[in-house]
Amino acid sequence: MIEKIEKLMAEIEALQAASAEEAEALRIKYLSKKGEITALMNDFRSVPAEQKKEVGMRINQLKTAALDKINALKSQVACDSQKCACIDLTRSPYPIRLGTRHPLTIVRNEIVDIFSRLGFTLAEGPEVEDDWHVYSSMNFADDHPARDMQDTFFIESHPDIILRSHTSSVQARVMEKNQPPIRVICPGRVYRNEAISARAHCFFHQVEGLYIDKNVSFTDLKQVLLLFAQEMFGPDTKIRLRPSYFPFTEPSAEMDISCHLCGGKGCSFCKHTGWVEILGCGMVDPAVLEANGIDSSVYTGYAFGMGIERITNLKYQVKDLRMFSENDTRFLDEFVSAN
Ligand code: DAH
Repeated sequence: MIEKIEKLMAEIEALQAASAEEAEALRIKYLSKKGEITALMNDFRSVPAEQKKEVGMRINQLKTAALDKINALKSQVACDSQKCACIDLTRSPYPIRLGTRHPLTIVRNEIVDIFSRLGFTLAEGPEVEDDWHVYSSMNFADDHPARDMQDTFFIESHPDIILRSHTSSVQARVMEKNQPPIRVICPGRVYRNEAISARAHCFFHQVEGLYIDKNVSFTDLKQVLLLFAQEMFGPDTKIRLRPSYFPFTEPSAEMDISCHLCGGKGCSFCKHTGWVEILGCGMVDPAVLEANGIDSSVYTGYAFGMGIERITNLKYQVKDLRMFSENDTRFLDEFVSAN
């Protein structure tokens, strides 16, 4: 009997199972009603009385060892199979799909990149601004109707604090801290109190450019803008400047580029004129230089400002401005290759 118990004990210690079914089969083999260990216990009755104590003890040890071993095998195979379930063997070997850059970011980076190559450095300013930087320092008189050109969001309790309505405020931020030569490009978000529609939004993005030095002329401005237009829209792009008005520039102009969809022949996109407007520009008004601590008898400068949404629309024909802020991945996915 003892020999039998020892043989079974050795067997139990060496047990292995590769699956839950195999582990269960072992339980049946040793511990079920007709199992080998149960049979041993049934034989216990015929053990001579003087051996009963030792044999009983050994059978109990064997039973406990078998239970422990089989339970351990069961939990081990359950854990292995759980690990298997977490690994999706049908998954593509490529890493997790990357998101896309937002089209406005792509175009902003492209604009900044073009001007960086021309020696402009990046400057940024706050979106929550004061009246001075957005208007007064930019030569908007207190009661000047030009203030109505841009429908401004005011903070009710602090009418002096506003959401900037153009990035021209960054011009003032740069001038108050630096003396010429100044050559900066300032991208950022601006806000206007507009009803949201396909063609207008209460926030959008602009890029401002400012160059101040000795002897800066309108010719310099024109040449830089021509180069920008050709880099952005292709080498055949033509530009034209129309006289305009901005309080902070004198003279002021608006710049059109030849419609790159029809090549200037006329189409519905350019309203059959062959031209599309892309930015405002001009020579920095001496009053702006003076208001910002720069001697206008020594220095001259030019400035320009453009809407990033507008440039993006020209490049990618996005028909509805609201698409830019809806985070619809079907729209964003279209820009994967432009990244
Ligand atoms: N700030 C103008 C706007 O928001 C754009 C602009 C026009 C900026 C002429 C300039 C400029 O720097 O010279 O409509």
